[in-house]
Amino acid sequence: MNKDCGKLKVSFGTMSITESAKRRITEALNCGRVSSGKYVREFEERFADLIGVKEAVAVSSGTDADVLALAVLYDFGASRGDEVIVPALSFVATGNAVLQAGFKPVFVDIEETTLNIDTAKIEKAISEKTRAIMPVHLMGKPAAMDEIEKIAQKHNLKVIEDAAEAHGAIYKGKNIGAWGDLAAYSLYVAHIISTVEGGIIVTGRSDFADVLRSLRSHGRFCKCRQCVLNLGTGECAKRFKDGVDQRFLFERIGYSSKMNELEAAIGIGNLDIYRQILDKRRSNLNYWTKEFKRFEPRLKTIKQESFELIGPHAFPVILSQNAGFSREEFVGFLEARGIDTRTLFSSIPTQCEGFKFLRHKLGDFPNAEYIGERAIHVGVHQDLEKQHLDYFLDVVDEFLKGKE
Ligand SMILES: Cc1ncc(COP(=O)(O)O)c(C=O)c1O
Repeated sequence: MNKDCGKLKVSFGTMSITESAKRRITEALNCGRVSSGKYVREFEERFADLIGVKEAVAVSSGTDADVLALAVLYDFGASRGDEVIVPALSFVATGNAVLQAGFKPVFVDIEETTLNIDTAKIEKAISEKTRAIMPVHLMGKPAAMDEIEKIAQKHNLKVIEDAAEAHGAIYKGKNIGAWGDLAAYSLYVAHIISTVEGGIIVTGRSDFADVLRSLRSHGRFCKCRQCVLNLGTGECAKRFKDGVDQRFLFERIGYSSKMNELEAAIGIGNLDIYRQILDKRRSNLNYWTKEFKRFEPRLKTIKQESFELIGPHAFPVILSQNAGFSREEFVGFLEARGIDTRTLFSSIPTQCEGFKFLRHKLGDFPNAEYIGERAIHVGVHQDLEKQHLDYFLDVVDEFLKGKE
């Protein structure tokens, strides 16, 4: 996977599909139960245990996980058109999700050193219509959850973590995902636990989880945790009431966003080897973080503080203003040598075309815009070995020497 015509290839992502996952997939195919069923339930229970929360609800993407977590708010006092505070820098899905859920995104600039929402700027963005703060733990680096929780409590707001990139992250002794009222994960291919496509929402509240189960299935009234219909173990005793099929009562505006058994089987396989995946990725990330010091100040990365553990999603590289070369030159050099790169996203309100209608202007979010222009990230995944890590360092070294 990481060799390209005999040359080393540093790919961005990888997939671990275990033998046990293959066995489960075959079993699901053979018995004909491939839509949401027992493996989705098992995956949810094990994911909730991993984060240390009561409930987990699996959905079809990380974006849907964000959308559904936000849509829960309508059952708890929010109205369509209310506002949600999000960082200006994230993968565009964060901004899209707020709009898709029917809320207005209110963007706050990030800190250039942490890549996360600048908590000192949050209160200024709060209005009468604000209902939630949605911090993003970008590149697995925890947002300042204690400060965010304090602001949320003061203004009676919910906190929904976009933990898409933050599997395995810990902040001040508590798992990321267990801080907010709800947290949304992506399980897409490049992520630490993957179901190929998929997402999952965790929450400590059963009433939120009930609403999530309804939302992912068209807003159904029927939302019990172990729905016997879904498990295929027989008719549900509660299905008909006064001659009405409860399964076809729709009590809120919903989505069609279920995970299927084949995806869950892959996810369970990833949970079986979670420690191995996490440890390998963390060791890759730590190695590059340490070795990258030699490229400062022209190239920088983020720092892990003593009170946190970064979720090893990827390795960010930030070009200094006077590095003496453009991002395009740098990326071109890396890509030509088999190193996959991704830009480090964009300032959603000012660098993403689709958000123009909100009428922000370039310069409104200087830190997010700087990262949007001058940063990239590369993979740290479990199939990268020391030879790949050293190869990347050698290529960067060669590039910088050519620019002296
Ligand atoms: C911060 C963030 N939020 C949301 C998403 C959306 O996840 P998905 O691609 O699974 O829809 C991603 C995807 O990587 C992400 O990085």
